[in-house]
Amino acid sequence: MSVLDLHLLGSPVLRDQSREVTAVDDEVRRLVADLFETMYAARGIGLAANQVGVARRVAVVHADEERLVLVNPRIVEASGRETGEEGCLSIPDLFGDVTRPDRIVLEALDQHGTPYRRELTGLPARAVQHEIDHLDGILFLDHLSLFKRQRLLSRWKKEHADDEGYTRPVRSVAAEST
Ligand code: NI
Repeated sequence: MSVLDLHLLGSPVLRDQSREVTAVDDEVRRLVADLFETMYAARGIGLAANQVGVARRVAVVHADEERLVLVNPRIVEASGRETGEEGCLSIPDLFGDVTRPDRIVLEALDQHGTPYRRELTGLPARAVQHEIDHLDGILFLDHLSLFKRQRLLSRWKKEHADDEGYTRPVRSVAAEST
């Protein structure tokens, strides 16, 4: 297993529509293991494959007691509404309030290619929705008001004006980023 470099805001792969996984093979299992290791090293609660440069529909979540492997995940039911603060390992140090359904029913494959269905609420439900957004090229910033988004983006541009390239080795960031 390896801790992989993270792709940060501006990296084109974060805006890619990720491809479905057609076979859950050893390569996918290695990716899942690397995603967990990278997520834990970065102290996140979720990580999608395109955040490490791989545009395939694979993500992991470990929020509260839920440790989930998400291969080809989809939400088949959603209800309620809750607003909560979100961050993202690809947009370190920026946070914003995002309103999402607070109860979902998730269908996905696990690392063995076995389909499962799970009802989730609270933080795990939020994290899964955030990760599925990643697989569709959507970032939490896209859910914010134009005003709030522009404010965060101008801060980001100022703080990252000297960045070279779009990837970073993992460093510790605030807990509960996804
Ligand atoms: Ni994220």
